[in-house]
Amino acid sequence: MSTPIIHTMGQQAGRRSWAEPYKIKMVEPLRTTTREERERAIKEAGYNTFLLHSADVYIDLLTDSGTSAMSDRQWAGMMLGDEAYAGSANYYRLEAAIQKYYGYKYIIPTHQGRGAENLLSQSAIKPGDHVPGNMYFTTTRFHQEHAGATFHDIIIDDAHDTASAHPFKGDIDLGKLQALIDKVGADKIPYVCMAATVNMAGGQPISMANARAVRELTAKHGIKIYLDATRAVENAYFIKEREAGYADQSLEAILLEFCSYSDGATMSGKKDHLVNIGGWLATNDQELFEEARNLVVVYEGLHTYGGMAGRDMEAMAIGIEESVNVDYMRSRIGQVRYLGDLLDQWGIPFVKPVGGHAIFLDARAFYPQLTQDQFPSQTLAAELYLDSGIRAMERGIVSAGRNQVTGDHHRPKLELTRLTIPRRVYTQAHMDVVAESVQHCYEQRAKVTGLNMVYEPKYLRFFQARFERR
Ligand code: F0G
Repeated sequence: MSTPIIHTMGQQAGRRSWAEPYKIKMVEPLRTTTREERERAIKEAGYNTFLLHSADVYIDLLTDSGTSAMSDRQWAGMMLGDEAYAGSANYYRLEAAIQKYYGYKYIIPTHQGRGAENLLSQSAIKPGDHVPGNMYFTTTRFHQEHAGATFHDIIIDDAHDTASAHPFKGDIDLGKLQALIDKVGADKIPYVCMAATVNMAGGQPISMANARAVRELTAKHGIKIYLDATRAVENAYFIKEREAGYADQSLEAILLEFCSYSDGATMSGKKDHLVNIGGWLATNDQELFEEARNLVVVYEGLHTYGGMAGRDMEAMAIGIEESVNVDYMRSRIGQVRYLGDLLDQWGIPFVKPVGGHAIFLDARAFYPQLTQDQFPSQTLAAELYLDSGIRAMERGIVSAGRNQVTGDHHRPKLELTRLTIPRRVYTQAHMDVVAESVQHCYEQRAKVTGLNMVYEPKYLRFFQARFERR
């Protein structure tokens, strides 16, 4: 009798893996390309991955924004779209879902997150104001500056250190906040912009204790807090995992408590809400609500659709419920971590600990031979595409833009290339392919000579800038 083969390859006895809490019902074929095709495509795109045609991309890790796979329930909800211009039933469903899970009073739908940022900035900011935040986000800071404010980064120093293992690198430095209040005066600070998680820091969470402490400090000075709630459910998962006292609480309860430390929020529904388009502004402040509701009809659409179709609002309401399911969130963050663990085993430099939505490769450590003016992160994104057709995004000096007053480049400490994982879209095998391509680029790193910028748009330049090889 032959001995039965026991499949335990690479596994420890007693190990229990997690798996995605869903199965695949519909597939979208992927196209592979040759190196020659990719050489041509990236050159035509000015070495900017934003300018590639998606048909030329194999695994698309440009962003987790609007790239989620919707569930069968969400698609069924799309059939229930009430496309009335005014008073759509789906708007009231959405409003109820936001009130239930986020706890805010007044809701204004927008076409996406930056629509909400525009409404908030225009309603709350006066020229000469100052807005502190836990690191900038591109569109958020743009709208704050466009409304006449100066942005101040008050995130803890650990956030700027790719190697720091701080569990809540998104935390606000209370000393920096107090110093700004002392310097410019509380009446010049319309609100603190608090992001959860912090995208540009590597998808890093902010702790409940920190949010509470910021609330206590700002309350003393009569300063409001507006949350960037774009990935706040992912943030809630990190609190559950890492912060004492929250292990047994549901994501719903953690999210509600977290939001209770703010006066309102801007939201890009294209992330946590598992939809392809949409956003909202929420507030507990009736005066601000009335101002923003007045503006929404100018920029977005009537206050009961704000740039979304009825069916989009229905899918979003369903997505909100799905996003707080802990099994879903474990697999979401688990997939990002799986990719991080592979890269870590191979000694690839990236931002630690692994954040919620992406791996942020440390382009300075990849290419110590390049200065920041030779665009190391942009270069790494182009090299990854050339190697395997994987599309990543620059999050370094190009994204940081220029100082509005001096015209100089903002020079962020972090020079990162983001591998962003869409929700419920790719499998573990795709993550293996990605990791192997990153490793190959790392092996080839000494040969790389960087890029020159040959076209620079005035606003949010990273989207459309063009480069040539040096
Ligand atoms: N806030 C954060 C933290 C974001 O990540 C984004 C978008 C926005 C606001 C703006 O929302 O795109 O719906 O207008 N982030 C995308 C990204 C674009 O790829 O990180 P939007």
